[in-house]
Amino acid sequence: MAKTIFIAKETAEGESRVAGSPDSIKKLAGLGFDVVVEAGAGAGSRIPDEAFEQAGARIGQAGDAAAADVVLKVRRPASGELSGYKKGALVVAIMDPYGNETAIKEMADKGVTAFAMELMPRITRAQSMDVLSSQANLAGYQAVIDAAHTFDRAMPMMMTAAGTVPAAKVFVMGAGVAGLQAIATAKRLGAAVSATDVRPAAKEQVASLGGKFVAVENDEFKEAEAAGGYAKEMSKEYQAEQAELVAEHIAKQDIVITTALIPGRPAPRLVTREMLKSMKPGSIVVDLAVERGGNVEGAEAGKIAEVEGVRVIGYNNVPGRIAASASLLYAKNLLTFLQTMAKDGEVTIDFDDEIVKQTALTHDGRVVHPKFGGAEPETPKDEPSTPANVGQETAPSTADEQKGEA
Ligand code: NAI
Repeated sequence: MAKTIFIAKETAEGESRVAGSPDSIKKLAGLGFDVVVEAGAGAGSRIPDEAFEQAGARIGQAGDAAAADVVLKVRRPASGELSGYKKGALVVAIMDPYGNETAIKEMADKGVTAFAMELMPRITRAQSMDVLSSQANLAGYQAVIDAAHTFDRAMPMMMTAAGTVPAAKVFVMGAGVAGLQAIATAKRLGAAVSATDVRPAAKEQVASLGGKFVAVENDEFKEAEAAGGYAKEMSKEYQAEQAELVAEHIAKQDIVITTALIPGRPAPRLVTREMLKSMKPGSIVVDLAVERGGNVEGAEAGKIAEVEGVRVIGYNNVPGRIAASASLLYAKNLLTFLQTMAKDGEVTIDFDDEIVKQTALTHDGRVVHPKFGGAEPETPKDEPSTPANVGQETAPSTADEQKGEA
């Protein structure tokens, strides 16, 4: 009998994304699954129930989750949702596992097989399943749009008969997926863009997008890239030197966008009150790391905080601010992940597959992920990924080599 996939309406406050799109549903139905979408699940992403229905889904209610073999979600299910799932069901979502060990244990106890999409290894084969990239790319774009919207000046230089408007100076801190898209977007709007990062590989990527790179480039910087292309935490000395350089630079900026993250750790503090105080009246800072502790002193999650005369934008769930696009990409990430284990309406999980090993949190009543109490996995065997170019409207990526588990 064909397995049932249930696409839930998100229950978390302010979550406007959905874990399915008409396109993904058409393909899941084509793989032999019965797809049920909870009524209204797509409303926040401008996808009406009828569009899901036309793609081959049945529109159901929350209670239909009880019969589902696979539950697709944006966020980790809340206790109330989880209690309604079938034992042995696959639950795939952005699980936010760090610091949420109790919730993971709860999923294990419930007997579901839970996958955390954000733990997807950064290998070529998994690039189309990489939710951190698909969502961060849009967040980087949206951060610039939010900044431009709040800024009381123009972004591009304008020479008019009535005088010249100077180009806005935009400084992007953290030039990963979100940062590179922020640089590309600010450039398109005509701003003068500079950026910093602790990973040496970022220097060339910033330059290729037309940005100026600002960083202390000592020996520590040259060795700063950790496994998987992620940043590692820098020494106190490096942080102090970098802060000094950045402080001088920030004083001259109109807009600062911070995106710096270190997987599994609180976000590094990059912008102090002192730095904010040095900025011109009307300046804007966007802290994309606010939900992970924040890069900016005084940033407050979920609002625009006025700190030392600077408006610090700390919106939660920035990909959700551009939900209609974010949902389409997220749905595609989920689809490609399921395609690796689906055939003729059945799901077979290969626990030796690298993408399964690194994303599976719970199975058979146990927590199986090594970072959250399970057994140690082996190193990925896949080849390094190839770069893509943000400036050419593709998803940003890098030429960084996959060096094993982050
Ligand atoms: P992230 O979201 O973990 O961090 C964002 C950025 O903040 C990173 O570039 C990081 O180096 C930077 N950062 C951390 N601490 C900092 C500090 N103290 N000061 C300044 N910057 C700091 O990283 P993200 O965006 O997920 O990407 C990490 C790398 O992996 C990037 O090079 C990215 O392009 C690459 N990547 C590779 C993929 C693949 O091979 N399939 C897919 C997606 C990304």
